[in-house]
Amino acid sequence: MTDPRNIVILTGAGISAESGIATFRGPGGLWEGHRVEDVCTPQALRADPDLVHRFYDLRRAALTRVEPNAAHHALVRLDRDWAGDLLLVTQNVDDLHDRAGSRRLLHMHGELKSRLCAACGDRAPHDGDLPPGSACPACHAPALRPDIVFFGEMPYAMERIEDAILSCDLFVSIGTSGAVYPAAGFVELARHAGAATLELNLERSAGSARFDDSRLGAAGTLVPAWVDAVLTGAA
Ligand code: APR
Repeated sequence: MTDPRNIVILTGAGISAESGIATFRGPGGLWEGHRVEDVCTPQALRADPDLVHRFYDLRRAALTRVEPNAAHHALVRLDRDWAGDLLLVTQNVDDLHDRAGSRRLLHMHGELKSRLCAACGDRAPHDGDLPPGSACPACHAPALRPDIVFFGEMPYAMERIEDAILSCDLFVSIGTSGAVYPAAGFVELARHAGAATLELNLERSAGSARFDDSRLGAAGTLVPAWVDAVLTGAA
């Protein structure tokens, strides 16, 4: 990698796996035994609000039992010491990047520790359970929902993400299967922008062939080594 200046990093569930949070499409995948359609679509929320709210209440509560791992901490070092532009885009809704201390971070699929008003769009930090029909403090409608981007809904900050990718020199994908768009299409956008592309993943993903360099291994091992190399100019 010749002297990247602006870096965009995309993370997926694989970066949280070594912290003990199950991935979505791995063996015994997440979703607490529910089919995805049961808990992560607007239709599911309308059909069974108790099930959907309870599912996310369980995942929010589980955050207290996990800690950031070496990969999260390495990305914080990069965030702190990297003089160029850096944007960490995570698909994850857990708070491990936040708790590790990443600053130049955005959650494109929402966050467990946030709630959204379906009536007025107000978003605010939230901890603890979120019963269906909770009243929005901003507009008072009984319309608070988990602040999770469901399948079929538009992810957050897409314009900001696309601008960052179009002006980056290096795009790095960590711990994602490349199964879900629009995130799975970011590598093509980066290639179109002339950026170098690197994948760090436990196994080959749906997108591996589209990366200039695809390194297989656990994020807890690969990410700290890669960050050390980038910060010493040896990447
Ligand atoms: N280190 C690195 N990669 C890992 C590790 C690990 N320790 N463990 C698993 N992986 C890899 C898997 O090989 C897989 O390619 O992480 C990837 C996880 O893929 P998914 O379970 O599909 O998760 P993700 O890619 O984040 O899913 C994307 O799909 O369900 C939706 O909204 C949800 O954000 C999620 C999106």
